[in-house]
Amino acid sequence: MDRVFSGIQPTGELHIGNWLGAVKNWVELQDRYECLYCAVDLHVLTVKYDPATLAERTREMLVSLMAAGLDPERSIIFAQSHVPEHTRLMWFFTNVTGIGELERMTQFKDKSQRMERVPAGLLMYPVLQAADILLYRANKVPVGEDQVQHLELSRDVARAWNAEFAPDEPYFPEPQPLLTPAKRIMGLDGEAKMSKSLGNTIGIFETPEQIWDKLKPAKTDPARKTKKDPGTPELCNLYTLHQHFSPAETVTAVADKCRSAGWGCLECKRVLADTVTAQLAPIRERGEALRADRSGVDRAIARGAERARALAVDTMRGVERRMGFLPVIQG
Ligand code: TRP
Repeated sequence: MDRVFSGIQPTGELHIGNWLGAVKNWVELQDRYECLYCAVDLHVLTVKYDPATLAERTREMLVSLMAAGLDPERSIIFAQSHVPEHTRLMWFFTNVTGIGELERMTQFKDKSQRMERVPAGLLMYPVLQAADILLYRANKVPVGEDQVQHLELSRDVARAWNAEFAPDEPYFPEPQPLLTPAKRIMGLDGEAKMSKSLGNTIGIFETPEQIWDKLKPAKTDPARKTKKDPGTPELCNLYTLHQHFSPAETVTAVADKCRSAGWGCLECKRVLADTVTAQLAPIRERGEALRADRSGVDRAIARGAERARALAVDTMRGVERRMGFLPVIQG
């Protein structure tokens, strides 16, 4: 059976960009595959972060994933740092990976450019990602376009390790991306991708009032200076959100009202606020229930770690044997 692995960094709350771009799809994959979903807290270390909030953010991310519909009974939902084998396998992999390849990663080039002193961990980021996936011998990885290069590196690592240590029968699969259907979601400022650090997001747990407060001032088609100017829905960022959140009839109606200047943007936003609120309502309710049950969440997280660990330990036994380490023999 195919095995799915994906990870998300626990930097801030889950927002509708993450949800539409990734997590909604992860929820659906649970019906078809054996799935592991991981809050990748070790990856956070590659940038400046606040140790005082890391634990709470990691927990919050796992709660958000469960609220969004990832089911800890069906899928393995866990924190990366709870399974020490991730970093162990990464060390093994660093020795079959070329520095040149890592230096050519576009994400590394972007991030390191702005740094005076580049941490070695930033260069190793994709090796840790390869270890995340291959530790579970997952062969399908749901990610966005921006991770395709990292996935390619994961395949290179699997191939190089297999060639060196398992030449007769490959031990690791070469993981393939499952490209997420929804493409990148723009922020409410209409200028950049939706991202917590840019403050242009709607969080999945926001209340109807908060959603309205954020949509009210959001950027629309810049050609619509007044209510009487006809607009072009395709140039309006909020129309994209309508397409994701509103029923088909509403999407058609909204486009007509925009083109004919039958509605002002505010009226259109009101409808959008309602459909966003309606879609997020069950997530917010599940979030509240999870928050009310702290020990239940703790148990689910511990159980996720335990299940992940069992698979990880099994993979590592095969790895260590093939790499020639002295096994511990109980006397
Ligand atoms: N690099 C991924 C991102 O920024 C996060 C990630 C870490 C990941 N390990 C992974 C994604 C393994 C998929 C599989 O989105």
